Amino acid sequence: MRVLFTSSEVFPLVKTGGLADVSSALPLALAEAGHDVRILMPGYPAALAGVTDRRELTRLGDPLGVGGEAVLIEGHMPGSGLKVWLLDCPVLFDRDGGPYSDSKGQDWPDNGLRFGLLSWVAAQLATEGSPVAWRPHILHCNDWQTGLAPAWMKAWGSTTRAGTVFTIHNIAYQGRFAPDLVTRLGLPPEMYGIDGFEYYDNLSFLKAGLFYSDRLTTVSPRYAREIQTPAFGYGMEGLLATRAADLTGILNGADYQVWDSGTDSHLAHPFPRGDAVGKAANKAALLAELGLESRPGAPLLVVVTRLTEQKGMDLLLAVLPAILGLGAQVAVLGTGDRELEDAFKAAAAAHPDQVAVRIGYSEQLAHRLMAGGDMLLIPSRFEPCGLTQFYAFRYGTVPIGHVTGGLADTLIDTGYDSLMTGTANAFVFEHSNAGAFQWAVERAVALYADSDRWRRIVEAGLSQDFSWGRSAERYLALYAELIAARKVDPA
Ligand code: ADP
Ligand code: GLC
Repeated sequence: MRVLFTSSEVFPLVKTGGLADVSSALPLALAEAGHDVRILMPGYPAALAGVTDRRELTRLGDPLGVGGEAVLIEGHMPGSGLKVWLLDCPVLFDRDGGPYSDSKGQDWPDNGLRFGLLSWVAAQLATEGSPVAWRPHILHCNDWQTGLAPAWMKAWGSTTRAGTVFTIHNIAYQGRFAPDLVTRLGLPPEMYGIDGFEYYDNLSFLKAGLFYSDRLTTVSPRYAREIQTPAFGYGMEGLLATRAADLTGILNGADYQVWDSGTDSHLAHPFPRGDAVGKAANKAALLAELGLESRPGAPLLVVVTRLTEQKGMDLLLAVLPAILGLGAQVAVLGTGDRELEDAFKAAAAAHPDQVAVRIGYSEQLAHRLMAGGDMLLIPSRFEPCGLTQFYAFRYGTVPIGHVTGGLADTLIDTGYDSLMTGTANAFVFEHSNAGAFQWAVERAVALYADSDRWRRIVEAGLSQDFSWGRSAERYLALYAELIAARKVDPA
């Protein structure tokens, strides 16, 4: 099978969150299963610099009139060698700052053009007008940045197009733009309506993807159900309910090459999986690195996250005094909302022995926190899948999380029965409020003092297999079913 996988961020080239992890690990798992996979992403400076063996694949001109030429560059992913196609269009992508916003956190004003062009190119490559001989059976789009691709394929009335799969990683981000972008991008005005990509008088890239793709997926079974309800659907629940037959939840996996404590070059002391002595050495090194006091018997609670409303970090601030009252220590790595950043910095300043906060993005420190922490806090209000719990399990760190989305599908609460049967791998809370979160932390800290029982919980996490193979098989089955249903047969 030939699959074109398109995404706005791909680890390790460019990453702001879990989408990047999935966009490298899933294509790799598909390739390892014997399929011919290419990744299409924007040619950000870091991506152009990060790939190996670059060559020009084809020149695209300026199809949407953005004011500069676009060229498709083929390169290879560092490490895996997977083929990646970079949309090199300097007027849109050659800038300092993030993939979606400038260094002050302001969205790039021309994001509609930037990701409009990415979607247009994806659609071209998946239809008979493609400038490249390699034609995919499946175009796999991810999140709003690629949502217009299926709409364009529909607009062009392509008869031998690829089958389209659209994966929702986070329905809260929708890519909404003023309606004049419809004509600016040359999209058919008749598609700007309720049965199309219009959404509350805006052009919605996400709705385009949800409306025009052949199949929809999201990143956990539970989130697939949740987004069909008003509480989680962010306005898309009605449309999704009409598409329920085409919507599947496929749980993400973890890249155990990247998250292998035995070979992890970011760690002070790489250690064999499950080795408690090695983990203790990493904890000691981490406490020293963070300037935290060494407190025998005190658990270290770690956080690695975007600091946003989604992640429930305001709940952590609310329960922080109680956590500190238990004698525990807390280390936070994150970046995002300014108020949350400031509040965490203030907490660290007030309790320098017990709280350490690093504002920013650091792949290295993320690994050291997973290895050195005793518990990982994930109080997310909603969590389509969440990847950090997988990394925590692998590094012997016990998650404390809210029962939502992928967390609900992967965390098994510690109770009398689950502890006895050895299935308990976490501490969870049902209701998204500070009191419930605090109760879960209190239960965890109390049990941490009982080292035999704690070990059982750690072992349960260590023994689980969330590698990508199984999830990749489910995507392959979906692709195959779609190809058969549509009789896709590109030249
Ligand atoms: P989301 O995609 O919603 O941010 P996920 O749990 O799916 O949440 O993925 C987050 C990914 O980003 C994980 O790989 C996590 O380790 C990483 N991450 C988040 N914040 C940081 C940070 N400040 N520094 C380093 N890595 C981070
Ligand atoms: C999104 C979600 C997160 C998920 C990730 C990868 O960013 O917020 O829960 O794990 O995508 O699918």
